[in-house]
Amino acid sequence: MVKRTIGSQSEGLAKKTASNPIAVLVVHGPNLNLLGEREPEVYGHTRLADIDKELKQLGRELEMKVETFQSNSEGAIVDRIQNARGKCDVLLLNPGAYTHTSVAIRDAILAVDIPVIEVHLSNVYRREAFRHHSTIADVAHGRIMGFGAESYTLALRAARTIVETSRVEASRVETSRKQTD
Ligand code: DQA
Repeated sequence: MVKRTIGSQSEGLAKKTASNPIAVLVVHGPNLNLLGEREPEVYGHTRLADIDKELKQLGRELEMKVETFQSNSEGAIVDRIQNARGKCDVLLLNPGAYTHTSVAIRDAILAVDIPVIEVHLSNVYRREAFRHHSTIADVAHGRIMGFGAESYTLALRAARTIVETSRVEASRVETSRKQTD
């Protein structure tokens, strides 16, 4: 079991000030480009472009800068996560089917040390047994699933709380460090 705490993840955030917009990267895995057409009885009728648009709009309201990315390729997802290192405060990640198989995506999360919220449209525990295992569940900060497209907006709100909590903690640590200097 890999132990990750907000405290350790907040070190990079400590450099930022509260006035910096929170930078969020949203990564969608394979077949999610077909949302709206693909198994709508499972995934709903909302298209990926509409999810991304809504996340960007909500991001503006919450003073967060939201970037989105989709790929059907595991390597491209690993590259995108690596590229977020030092640039991104929090990652919303729906690895699609790679959730259940990918050690490479798990390793990328550990390598970049950015808090991750694992997102799924469907409640994977109401589905086939092979979907019950996630390679990233124990390295994610938290998991949101089963709310359709709303899983993403719930995750974005949670992301804001995670980063703000980290920033408050970082500034508390900095203040007490100055006091003891
Ligand atoms: C999914 C669930 C996965 O099991 C599936 O392979 C997907 C989508 C979801 O969002 O519900 O592609 O990640």
